[in-house]
Order: sequence, then structure tokens, then C-alpha cells
Amino acid sequence: MNIAVLPGDGIGPEIIAEAVKVLRRIAQDGFDFTFEFAPVGGAAYAASGHPLPEATLNLARSADAVLFGAVGDWKYDTLERHLRPEQAILGLRKNLGLFANLRPAVLYAELADASSLKPEVVSGLDILIVRELTGDIYFGQPRGRRTAPDGAFAGQPEAFDTMRYSRPEIERIAHVAFKAAQGRNKRLTSVDKANVLETFQFWKDIVTEIGQQYPDVQLDHMYVDNAAMQLVKAPKKFDVIVTGNMFGDILSDEASMLTGSIGMLPSASLNEKGQGLYEPSHGSAPDIAGQGIANPLATILSAAMMLRHSLKLPQQADRIESAVQKALAQGLRTPDIHAPGMQKVSTAQMGDAVVAALG
Ligand code: IPM
Ligand code: MG
Repeated sequence: MNIAVLPGDGIGPEIIAEAVKVLRRIAQDGFDFTFEFAPVGGAAYAASGHPLPEATLNLARSADAVLFGAVGDWKYDTLERHLRPEQAILGLRKNLGLFANLRPAVLYAELADASSLKPEVVSGLDILIVRELTGDIYFGQPRGRRTAPDGAFAGQPEAFDTMRYSRPEIERIAHVAFKAAQGRNKRLTSVDKANVLETFQFWKDIVTEIGQQYPDVQLDHMYVDNAAMQLVKAPKKFDVIVTGNMFGDILSDEASMLTGSIGMLPSASLNEKGQGLYEPSHGSAPDIAGQGIANPLATILSAAMMLRHSLKLPQQADRIESAVQKALAQGLRTPDIHAPGMQKVSTAQMGDAVVAALG
């Protein structure tokens, strides 16, 4: 099984090293994993002038799965947009057709106090955000800057993006979400802004229509502003949430905080062939890079999702997830989830603890 490893920028290389450590330990039990590393993001720009070099893209295309760290650094913020590190992850998503982004937000019992919400509001939390990942205002054309052709500010400089979704794009993400709900508590909340946006009235109509094929799943609809509120008010009412690219970006960061730290949230981005890219939901955090204080658990849990979804090794995925739980139960905490009485550990120590807990 060929795994393309793209560490990227900031804390990317540190957290990826820990996930690879865990995977190598799993491999010792008789699994044939090959790791091929390639530069991506700012690191790739610095090395070769492009955030997503052709060789990196080809490696990702041909791999059985891609393990991705994070991209982005302020020092690249003044580059033209197509050269910025973020274009690497957007380009990988688009080129590999990774339309289905699964972002589970699970609260480990040991971290109930690390959440900024009261323990009773979040304890037992287990929700799944299904974010559409290759459409919406992120990729819609046209976009750009121009002189406003009309309106109250005609003649003035303006910028614009285009929010759009086609029927097949909505249908396929709806199917992924309904199927995910069938494997869980059979409740699906579709998040939209149908009260204002044409795109999301269309979204809502199509999700409702697809829902008729899944009579065992209870579907409801929620406006995104209300969903943002309900996520902090009563998050346990959700089971699976399905939404568009931009709303999903925002709500998944919000959901991560329920679990104590964005450093705990893994993700899988899948295409129609079941190929996937696995990355922590958090960013590159250049402010703490190189200090050995980043939390590697989101990346380690992303490696577990990779074993489950792309490499079809669900038992090994379970094994990693319970090893993470054991490390937390031993009281080990990176600074982002540290609490009084717990033992503060480095990025590498947390990775070692997970490896040890694999047994
Ligand atoms: C995410 C990130 C990306 C996004 C950025 C880095 C382009 O925030 O994966 O959530 O907006 O999708
Ligand atoms: Mg985001």
C-alpha cells in the first residue's frame, strides 16, 4: 500500500512525523506500507517555485492514500493567490475530486474539562460533519476584481466570488451523508441558508428529494446561523451534519472547540473511487512551529481514518483510536489540552505514548 506523505509547512512536519511513527509500528505487524514524501505548500514554493509541484500532484494521484500535514505561513501571504500555500490543498482537492470531507468531532471523556463549554453540554459528544469540498464559493467562477458595472457603487473598484452548486454535486454529497447517518444514529441535519441564497434553496430541495431514498434516516434542515448557535447550545442534538464547502469550513472549526482543542480533529477527504486524503482539520500554526508543542493527535487520528476508509484495515484503525484514548487516560497532555494534575508532554512524547499504547 503506497502512502503519499505531504508534510507541508509550520507544524506540518512535526505532526506528520508522529503519525508516520504510529503507521510504521502498525506495519511491523505484517502490513506492507510504503511511504513516499513530497514537498507541498510554502515548503514546495520555497524549493521549486510552486505550492503544488507536478511531481507532488502525480505522487498523490498514484498513491493509495495521501497523508497531509498542513500548509500556510504568513511569509507567503503577499504572493499572488495562485502561488500561495493554500492553493496546494485546494488544488489537491480539486484535481483528485475529493468532494466528500468527513470531519468527526468526538469528545474523549478524558478531555471533558478541556472544552470551553460546560462538561455536561459536551460529554459524550459524537458528531460527524460532512462538508462538500470541491464546489461552492471556494471554486465558483467567475471571480476576481473589476470596476463595478452597476449598482450604487458603479464605477468603483470591487471584488466578487461566485457561489454555485450543480445538481450532481449536491446529490453525491447527500448520498454520502445519508449513508453515513445510516451507519450511525440515523439523523441528518442539512445546513443551508435557503432563506437568503438561491444556491442553498436548491441545495435544500435536492437534499430533501434524495432523502426519499433513505426513509430510515430522519432528515431536518437548519439555517447556518442557527446551526452555529445550536452547536454551542446543544451540540449533542446533532448526529450527522451535511453542508456546503464554506459553511462546513466554518462549522467544523467551531465543532472542534467542543472537543477541547482543534488539535484533536481529524478529517478524511474522499473521491468517488474511495481514494482519500487525510489531514488534521487544523492549520499549520507557524507561530508554534519547531517548538515540539503541537498536538499530533488530530494527525494520528487522520491516519486511523486512512486505514479505515482507503486501506480497508478497520481493525487497525480501531487500534490506533483506542491507543489515543489510552494515552489520554494516562494523563498525558500536549499544552493545548493541558489541565492541572495532568502531565505535559511534547509532540514526540505524545506520539511515543500512542505507539506504546498500541501494545
Ligand atoms: C480547512 C482549511 C482550508 C479551507 C484552507 C487552508 C484553504 O481552513 O481545511 O478547513 O478553507 O478549506
Ligand atoms: Mg478551515
